Amino acid sequence: MTLRKPNLVPTKRLPDALIIGVKKCGTRALLEFLRLHPDVRAAGSEVHFFDKFYHKGFEWYRNRMPPTLEGQITMEKTPSYWVTRSAPKRVFAMNPAVKLLAVVRDPVTRAISDYTQSASKRPSLPRFEELALMDSPWGSVVDTWPPVRLGIYARPLRRWLRRFPRSRILIISGERLVVDPAAEMTRVQEFLNLKPVITEKHFYFNSTKGFPCLLKSESRSTPHCLGKTKGRNHPYIDPVALERLREFYRPHNERFYELSGINFGWQ
Ligand code: A3P
Repeated sequence: MTLRKPNLVPTKRLPDALIIGVKKCGTRALLEFLRLHPDVRAAGSEVHFFDKFYHKGFEWYRNRMPPTLEGQITMEKTPSYWVTRSAPKRVFAMNPAVKLLAVVRDPVTRAISDYTQSASKRPSLPRFEELALMDSPWGSVVDTWPPVRLGIYARPLRRWLRRFPRSRILIISGERLVVDPAAEMTRVQEFLNLKPVITEKHFYFNSTKGFPCLLKSESRSTPHCLGKTKGRNHPYIDPVALERLREFYRPHNERFYELSGINFGWQ
């Protein structure tokens, strides 16, 4: 009888799990928290294979992955997969059993977060209200403006559900990831069939930053938060404009709650 030897040499493999979105909902936090797990190996930067570089082929993609040992999970996160029309079909072609993770957050806050990121690069950008809404006093919502459009979560989810069963997609609350990261990470580890290694012992709340931060990680042994571009201050937004946006998202949110089977309770 020949016993198969465990693979002790790390090898690059295609991902077993993907964080597919949603932009500005906490995707970096989720990835960094997952990297605390010794059985998770993840590409550090966004690979953009299923949207921009698909033509380069699976070998190219595999080479972007970190080497993993048998029993470890290979991962990457590229939030634009969520809204790439061809991504579900392409991901399915790679591995129909892949596990998918998506973080979502109140779409109004998400839109402001998205805008804040753009405004940090282009200080001359008009006010959020002027881009998100027609005229002043604020009229209808500009649903073609990407920061607004990306908050309509039901449409992309429906596309992913045409290829993958609901049980293969974990939908994570971006709000809960901030309020109780350990509890949310318990769900994530269960979903990925990982031992529950990531617990409250890994986190502390940094009141200056207003976000949970890490006591230590693989790369740093001292307490640290995510980078300056995560957890930015948002600009003041006219409450009337906020109300318009909330009204706009209400039916879309309802559809998303139905489709996902989770009521996120966004106002
Ligand atoms: P803001 O910077 O607008 O607050 P992504 O990584 O998908 O781009 O998401 C960025 C958002 O992650 C941040 O948006 C922030 O609200 C959220 N976030 C969640 N947990 C965080 C954490 N521990 N530290 C910093 N930001 C966090």
